[in-house]
Amino acid sequence: MNEKPTVLPSEPNEPAPPINAAQSEDYEEKLTIHVRPYRNSDLEAVRDLFYDSMSGEGSPYYFAMRAQWTRPISLVTYACALIGMMLIVRSGQPLMRKAGYGIVFISVLVFSAYRYSLRATFEDFLKRNLEGDFAHIPDTYDIEVVPLEEYRSKPLGSDSAFKGRNGFWVAETPSGDVVGCLGLDSNTHNSNETTSELRHLVVSRKFRRRGIAQQLVTAAVEHAKELGTKTLFLTTSSYQRAALGLYQKLGWTKQEIRRVSVLFDNIDIYALQLDLENYHGWNC
Ligand SMILES: CC(C)(COP(=O)(O)OP(=O)(O)OC[C@H]1O[C@@H](n2cnc3c(N)ncnc32)[C@H](O)[C@@H]1OP(=O)(O)O)[C@@H](O)C(=O)NCCC(=O)NCCS
Repeated sequence: MNEKPTVLPSEPNEPAPPINAAQSEDYEEKLTIHVRPYRNSDLEAVRDLFYDSMSGEGSPYYFAMRAQWTRPISLVTYACALIGMMLIVRSGQPLMRKAGYGIVFISVLVFSAYRYSLRATFEDFLKRNLEGDFAHIPDTYDIEVVPLEEYRSKPLGSDSAFKGRNGFWVAETPSGDVVGCLGLDSNTHNSNETTSELRHLVVSRKFRRRGIAQQLVTAAVEHAKELGTKTLFLTTSSYQRAALGLYQKLGWTKQEIRRVSVLFDNIDIYALQLDLENYHGWNC
């Protein structure tokens, strides 16, 4: 593998979720979690997983909303609201009190509009994906639907369900719960026959930091390499610090950072790339 890239921004990493005693049983399952091709009966589980991972605690949406509390524009609105309240409480002049009410009102309005615009951006992202890709997984990812009975007779992890360079994998516990997924897409944002995009990598919160994402990425990388794909690419964001840590560990390199403005905020979108011609398995 080439030089160790740096894709992480400079702030400290989000701490890994602690594994407590109640989770230890699940932790044991890590050893037997397997990654296999998607089948139609996974649809609901995969959609729920994507929705939870992208909107619940520990999701990019969660981090963006949390960061908003301390953004400079939020601090300005707190200061203005405080000044407004002081005018209301302390000033004896009706005009000044009216000005105080106005300042408080405008501060609350700006803060709420900022929060609303962030939420709307993420809701739009979720809606686009759930109504787009996630509504048509077999078509988007060229999956040949293997009947459940037939599938069960095949070795687990078989990739025979994929018709071509695309694919969609799920990580499953021994009890049949889908706890992770990942798509490999050679069509949507791509016109090149030697490149493909990794999309929709998510792992259930309860099962994070146990190597499941790495297992999913490995399945996709090996499938892509076997079918002659030379380069993989993906996009992630400054609010996906776990993903940035994962791709850094796995040797992805940063191609560009695009800044998207959301009212008073900026979200950095990272375009990362993996050279499959130099991929011979992860040394980690
Ligand atoms: C990103 C995500 C898929 C990682 O899943 P995971 O199964 O927990 O990842 P793994 O256990 O395979 O982690 C492999 C490596 O990634 C890095 N990593 C994972 N989580 C990390 C975190 N919270 N902070 C820093 N690095 C992290 C580490 O290098 C880790 O190796 P280590 O445990 O030996 O240190 C998961 O956190 C997630 O679903 N996040 C929300 C959705 C999302 O952002 N998806 C990415 C789309 S591009």
